[in-house]
Amino acid sequence: MLVSAKEMLEKAKAGKYAVGQFNINNLEWTKAILLTAQELNSPVILGVSEGAGKYMCGYETVVGMVKGMIKCLNITVPVALHLDHGSYEGAKACINAGFSSVMFDGSHYPIEENIAKTTELVNACNVLGISLEAEVGSIGGEEDGVVGAGECADPNECKMVADLGVTMLAAGIGNIHGKYPANWAGLNFDVLGAISEKVGDMPLVLHGGTGIPEDMIKKAISLGVSKINVNTECQLAFAAATRSYVEAGKDLSGKGFDPRKLLAPGFEAIKATVKEKMELFGSVNKA
Ligand code: 13P
Repeated sequence: MLVSAKEMLEKAKAGKYAVGQFNINNLEWTKAILLTAQELNSPVILGVSEGAGKYMCGYETVVGMVKGMIKCLNITVPVALHLDHGSYEGAKACINAGFSSVMFDGSHYPIEENIAKTTELVNACNVLGISLEAEVGSIGGEEDGVVGAGECADPNECKMVADLGVTMLAAGIGNIHGKYPANWAGLNFDVLGAISEKVGDMPLVLHGGTGIPEDMIKKAISLGVSKINVNTECQLAFAAATRSYVEAGKDLSGKGFDPRKLLAPGFEAIKATVKEKMELFGSVNKA
């Protein structure tokens, strides 16, 4: 069964650990993440960007696939199916399609418009018991065509948005989607600390989880981060494992071309990446 992310994130905030959001792209991705969560007895959030939703033939297809897999694989840990960086229209479409959690990313709007649109979605989500993530201060880098400048959020604006009744809040603190450049300045813990103080119990979300050093992840969790998003790292792991298989000529030997064999090393690589992150985030045995 799909659940809202509310309870798992409130527990994470109180217990000083974080739940991973791992973005899905297809059946192998979804199966690898669900099986790892079950093996580690960890709650998990499956992230779907609007682009990935389109790629997987629409939100209803995604809901059908995830629900079917949860049943077939006997997944009993809490699983939230979450729209990542949704537009206002995308959030509504996912709510209608049966997602249990949505993000409305209004960070590129003036704060008044971000607040107005977030407020409407708070009301819709509350009625249906769906968790809602809002964003203040855009995340750097590019994700599915959405380009953020990577600013740091204003703690007062964070407080205003948190007070609307959202479930969790993403705030820019110098984090970037994709690989971090060699000259990256690191996470801004002064800003994170100030935001945390303003928003109290509200679970904070750290985007751009790929490539953030372990000590920074741990410090961010200690300052109130309860959800960490990881996407690129699973993609890199999948690509590297698939490359090794092909470069070793394994697709040319016997039935090595069978997609169930060809995609298996990438699948295992995603599992290993998710396991490593769940251990680092502290969500193992927290289901
Ligand atoms: P990465 O691709 O950098 O891991 O970021 C993922 C993310 O924040 C999804 O919203």
